[in-house]
This record gives sequence, structure tokens and C-alpha cells, in this order.
Amino acid sequence: MAAEHVLVIGLGYVGLPLAIQAAAAGFEVTGFDTSASIVDGLNAGRSHVDDVSDAEVAGMLARGFRATADEQSLGPQDVIVICVPTPLSESDGPDLTAVKAATAAAGRWLRAGTLVSLESTTYPGTTDEVVRPVLEKISGLAAGIDFSLAFSPERIDPGNPDFGFANTPKIVGGITPSCTEAAAGFYGRVCERVVRAKSAREAEMAKLLENTYRHVNIALVNEMAIFCRELGIDLWDAIGCAATKPFGFQPFYPGPGVGGHCIPIDPNYLSYKVRTLGYPFRFVELAQEINGRMPRYVTDRAAELLNRHARPLNGARVLLLGVTYKKDIADQRESPARPIAVKLRDRGAQLTYHDPYVDSWAVGGEPVPRATDLDDAAASADLVILLQAHHDYDLPAIAATAQLLLDTRGAAPAAPHVEAL
Ligand SMILES: NC(=O)c1ccc[n+]([C@@H]2O[C@H](COP(=O)([O-])OP(=O)(O)OC[C@H]3O[C@@H](n4cnc5c(N)ncnc54)[C@H](O)[C@@H]3O)[C@@H](O)[C@H]2O)c1
Repeated sequence: MAAEHVLVIGLGYVGLPLAIQAAAAGFEVTGFDTSASIVDGLNAGRSHVDDVSDAEVAGMLARGFRATADEQSLGPQDVIVICVPTPLSESDGPDLTAVKAATAAAGRWLRAGTLVSLESTTYPGTTDEVVRPVLEKISGLAAGIDFSLAFSPERIDPGNPDFGFANTPKIVGGITPSCTEAAAGFYGRVCERVVRAKSAREAEMAKLLENTYRHVNIALVNEMAIFCRELGIDLWDAIGCAATKPFGFQPFYPGPGVGGHCIPIDPNYLSYKVRTLGYPFRFVELAQEINGRMPRYVTDRAAELLNRHARPLNGARVLLLGVTYKKDIADQRESPARPIAVKLRDRGAQLTYHDPYVDSWAVGGEPVPRATDLDDAAASADLVILLQAHHDYDLPAIAATAQLLLDTRGAAPAAPHVEAL
């Protein structure tokens, strides 16, 4: 029997691991991405995604995978998975441009019997109200009758050594029960456990519930961090104690702000949908306000710490440690390091940064000098701000060297010149 054809549209953090898994499961996989550099890199065996190695890309190529930026070179497909970005528009609403473009491409290459699965995070109703009409119009076929259409949220956690694509349960929700079964059949071959949602809308909502839950709980501890300091309470110690409760509590930790896609961006998709009902989603809006204020709070704390040691922020040499949005990965999307750098620079700080994962870094179009020797840089800075506690960092050594250290992660050892957020 000929191998079934799988087309993955969008070969980023979500699409690439899926393509690898599908190729390993015996599907004939093609990747379509509008970025020629990503396509060329993958076809040359180079991964641009943190958790995917060059060897895995090479293995997938050996199994017949190819990437293309030329839609015309595609052919009819058995399964089409859409993994393109869902950013925010200028008014902070959903920007479904890429989803619509990818859906149009899918519509041109689906045939009777094809499964189309949307994985991009989006507001509930998108699969049925936005994707379905485009597919039906372009293909002339009926969703749920001639072809299957489902939503399956991606739960990739970049940098997580324990849970990857294959062993994280995969939710699937079709626009009809038979579409759910078609999606469950496909994903059952590429990952260990499939969870069936009642429909595509519940699957879309499940993803936003997960993201919103984290967003709100991070905002809760960020707000607590601010008042705990004024009350003289070590919040990290309190969280550590609370986390010993064997039920009913999950620890979240304060930090300099939220980054990546899932936390700062995705909940906006849900609040947009709720606003169409004529009222706001107050939890999300409050969480956004609190988490969005953290970069300013970090900057104020930096100024205060320097001031207590009779140094002004204006003219101070400030070393930022770790500028990615998450530890141990290279992804800088929405990293709070960026607004923090802007605010510090606006107040006259002379910035340098250090990050083992970032070779060069520019903020507002202006390069920030990179410290190559961490010991020297930490010793010569008036203030070191730990933004991301990458595993590579020897925090006791950094704390011993730094003149002043503002620790936004609660990860450095306590010392008179070290302050936690
Ligand atoms: N990165 C994560 O950790 C993560 C986790 C869960 C869900 N998601 C969601 O998955 C979706 C994709 O995210 P990602 O992190 O993989 O994004 P990404 O930016 O890493 O990759 C998206 C890819 O799609 C390509 N692309 C853009 N428009 C295209 C088009 N019209 N046709 C073909 N290719 C196109 C881009 O060139 C890029 O390579 C988003 O909705 C995101 O919210 C991401």
C-alpha cells in the first residue's frame, strides 16, 4: 500500500516536531513554509527549532521528507495540518492572516477523504466559522461529508526534557463526530495518547483554558511579589511551603514579565471572543495588566537598588543575564528582557547582556553589546540583573562576583548585595 501523504503547513516550533513524528510513523511528509530560508535550511539538514536536532531533521529527510516554499509543487494530500502563527493585530485583536492563507493552500490540495487539522492557537469557533467556509469554497467539497475537519491544539513546551510531541496527550475535536474520529485515527499513529473533545470548539477552548490558567496564576504571584516585599515576606519561601501540600495547589513563580506566545498573546484571542458578547473577560484583562507592568517594576527596582548604594541608574553599567523568554532555549519571542532594556536605556543605563543562547541582540534597532567573559562582565557592572536563570549559569559564582545583583527569578543565593524581586 502506498504511504499516505501528510502536508504540514508552517514548519516552526509546532509544525517541525509534528513533521518529524509523522515521518517516523511512516507517512510521506511534505512541509510547506513561506520562508525560503527555513525551507532551504531544513532541506540542507539544519534545524532552526530549539528542541529539534539536526540529526532528527537528517533522519526525516532520509525518510523522504522535503520542505518547499512553492505551493504549486505540492500534490493531493491525505492529511493536512496547519501550524502557522496566530499573532495579534495592531489593535491587539486576533490576526488570522496566516491561518487564512494556509487554509486557502489546504483547500487547493485537499480531495475527498482528506483530513484537515488546525493546530494554530485561536479563539473558539475559528475552525468552524473561518477555516471551514474557505476550505469548502476553494475545494467545492463539504466538510464533515466529503472531507474531515478538526482542531487539535499543540501543547509543545519548548525546552521541556520530559514531555515532547509524542508523549503529551493530544486533544482532537472535529466539526462532526466522524471528523473527530478521523483526527483521532491520524494522531493515534503519531503520539501516545489521544483525547477526544466534544467538538472543535471544546478543543479550541481547552487550549485557551490552559494558557489563561497559567497567565492568571503568574499574575497572581507577580502581584503578590510586589506587596510581599513591602510586607517583608519572602514569597519564594512561602510558595515552596505551599507547594508541599499534596493536593489542590500548583506552584507558580514571579518573574520579570511573561514571554513566548502562549501566555502574553493567546489569551487575547479569548478575550476578543468574549468581547463579541458585549462584556469583557476580566480575569484575562487583569492578568495582562499585572504581567505587563512587571518590566516597569523591574526597572524601578533596579533604580532603587542602585540608589540605596548611592549610585544613579543614569550612567550605571547594567548587565542583563538571560534575554530569552524561557530558560535553556534560544526563543526571544515577546521576551520581557526587551521592554526592560528599553526602559533602562531610557533612564540612562549603559547596557550589556549575556546569554549563552543569543549571539547578538538589538533592542529598538540599536545593538546591545554582548559580554563574552561573564566573570569580568559581572564584576565590572554596577548592577547585574538576572532575567533568565539558564542552567549554564553558576549563580553562586555570579552572586559572589557581582557588585549588586537583582534576581528576578528567586534563583540566586541570599547575600547582602543580592535582592530577589
Ligand atoms: N511555540 C510554541 O511553544 C507553541 C505552543 C503551542 C501552540 N503554539 C501555536 O502554534 C502556532 C504556530 O506557532 P509556532 O510557534 O510553531 O510558530 P513559528 O513562528 O515557530 O512557525 C510558524 C511557521 O509558519 C510559517 N508560515 C507563516 N505563514 C505561513 C503561510 N501562510 N503558509 C505557510 N507557512 C507559513 C512561518 O514561516 C514559520 O516558519 C501558533 O498559533 C502558536 O500560538 C505554539
